[in-house]
Amino acid sequence: MCGIVGYVGKGRAADFLLDGLSKLEYRGYDSAGIAVYDGTNVHIEKSVGRLSALREKIADNMPEGSMGIGHTRWATHGRPSDRNAHPHSDCSGDFVVVHNGIIENYLSLKEELIEKGHNFQSETDTEVVAHLLEDVYNGDFLGSVREVLQRIEGSYSLVFMSKKNPGTLICTKQDNPLVIGLGEGENFIASDIPAIISKTRKTFIMADGEIAVVTQDSVNISNRRGEKIDKKIFEVSWNAEAAEKGGYEHFMLKEIHEQPKAVKDTMRERIIKDGSGIILNELNWDKDFLQSFNKIYIVACGTAYHAGLVGKYYIEKLARILVEVDLASEFRYRDPIIDEKTLLIVISQSGETSDTLAALKESKRRGAKTLAVTNVVGSSIAREAEWVLYTWAGPEIAVASTKAYTTQLILMFMLALYMAGILGTQEKERIAELVGELKKIPAQISETLSDVEPIKTFAKRYGFNEDVFYIGRSLDYSVALEGALKLKEVSYIHAEAYAAGELKHGTLALIVEGVPVIALATQRSVYEKTLSNIKEVKARDAVVIGIAAEGDEELIKYVDHVMYVPQTDELLIPLLTVVPLQLLAYYGAITRGCDVDKPRNLAKSVTVE
Ligand code: F6R
Repeated sequence: MCGIVGYVGKGRAADFLLDGLSKLEYRGYDSAGIAVYDGTNVHIEKSVGRLSALREKIADNMPEGSMGIGHTRWATHGRPSDRNAHPHSDCSGDFVVVHNGIIENYLSLKEELIEKGHNFQSETDTEVVAHLLEDVYNGDFLGSVREVLQRIEGSYSLVFMSKKNPGTLICTKQDNPLVIGLGEGENFIASDIPAIISKTRKTFIMADGEIAVVTQDSVNISNRRGEKIDKKIFEVSWNAEAAEKGGYEHFMLKEIHEQPKAVKDTMRERIIKDGSGIILNELNWDKDFLQSFNKIYIVACGTAYHAGLVGKYYIEKLARILVEVDLASEFRYRDPIIDEKTLLIVISQSGETSDTLAALKESKRRGAKTLAVTNVVGSSIAREAEWVLYTWAGPEIAVASTKAYTTQLILMFMLALYMAGILGTQEKERIAELVGELKKIPAQISETLSDVEPIKTFAKRYGFNEDVFYIGRSLDYSVALEGALKLKEVSYIHAEAYAAGELKHGTLALIVEGVPVIALATQRSVYEKTLSNIKEVKARDAVVIGIAAEGDEELIKYVDHVMYVPQTDELLIPLLTVVPLQLLAYYGAITRGCDVDKPRNLAKSVTVE
């Protein structure tokens, strides 16, 4: 997964390319490069490392020219290096290409091209595309690109530039995102909207198989068969600032603090005015439809999977339908039982996660009905699923997912209530009561965020521990899993979450004097049991930080510290308890001097297996 950009216009291409890439570094950041055509030659500049390394390298020698392409890389084929950084060119240097995705048949193509005398410079799959274009080029740029596309297999978004065709860029996509920004006398290409919104709000969101010929004054789009496509302009409604840090030191902190607004946006227009229930206009499901399923699968990865675990609980508890939750990377290879009586719900912030997309496609192929819960409009997953519920969280830039998780929880809760309303599995009064509690959540998240000082103190005190354990039962366990993932990924502290009742089956052996244990104890039905698990770890001299609802006067008697969250229905409390855990991870990472927004080895959008 990588970020790509392109520019053709009157301005200095390098300025947009570097600026655009800086907004796409969440897609990968192990090397970066740009290629600029100056009217005579193509100048390629690359550097391993962050974009800042490339900026430094070319600061005194900025390539001039008003057409160019750029790339920020997350290595798949070939380790991060100058040589493997994009853009890649053919032998003559006439054709240059940037690519996001994987060319699956690159090895056979490479062999064929080497036999024909082509000379390869890198270990990447992408370079074959440039050589192939050189090989098939017949003077017709678009026709030759089409020929290349017929030969390559895999997933891609690609931008082609050719010295032989000044003033024209060609771009296309298959299973990876691509947008075109429409300017005045200039046009922009990027993997994602944040790269272009400082320039324009008018965009074309490219669909699979579409090919665009982009000049400074025109964008002509056609499909694989060469038929012209009249695309509707998508007006971006986000502020330019929404994709920036907005005064916070890191995107992660900004996004944690955006949660009250984000969850409000998720709820907007989905709550019946009199508070009696939930309306999801996107679905229009009825009782017969819901009763036609014998099971629901929720499939996702990482944080979205953790949201799925909570979603299972909601749907089973409120709508009384059996739900299984699966990791997308496992689901697709375990021959799951799927037929037309299956409803598959995929959850994905980016809408581009490769395993989730593949699970969706496979389930569809086997006859399942499919619903996507995603944040990104027009994403591959959104387009593939039969129904889509958008979380409307706004762009999430930090690699560690925060507001995406809480908005996914809200949406899963509303979906479960919506189903319960249709199926009649809950009393009307109970639904109204839960809607009432739901409406209070944005303000309660704000309240939870209002005093971060104790969390900073905990982070400073325990930030240098090697291991941290998270325990809880029922919904608290699902939140514990998410808390541990957050801590691991941004602070590099080894963190594990356990169902509190499982401790005695092995993990208790790891609990020794001074080990921090974060214990969530908000679920009344298992409260006493959780307390006895807490006593077990306390008896081994662990340092226990409890997380409880305000008004709980019991927990403090057995733990070292308690962080309180506002009282709500215990179904909704994960939306509050996760907040101190996100902050603990954030301030833990700060204490250790970690690069919070770009944790090592990770990238925001995992569009490869
Ligand atoms: C963790 C995180 C990842 C993502 C996972 C799925 O903070 O962000 O675990 O949740 O890669 O990504 P999406 O939701 O885009 O499918």
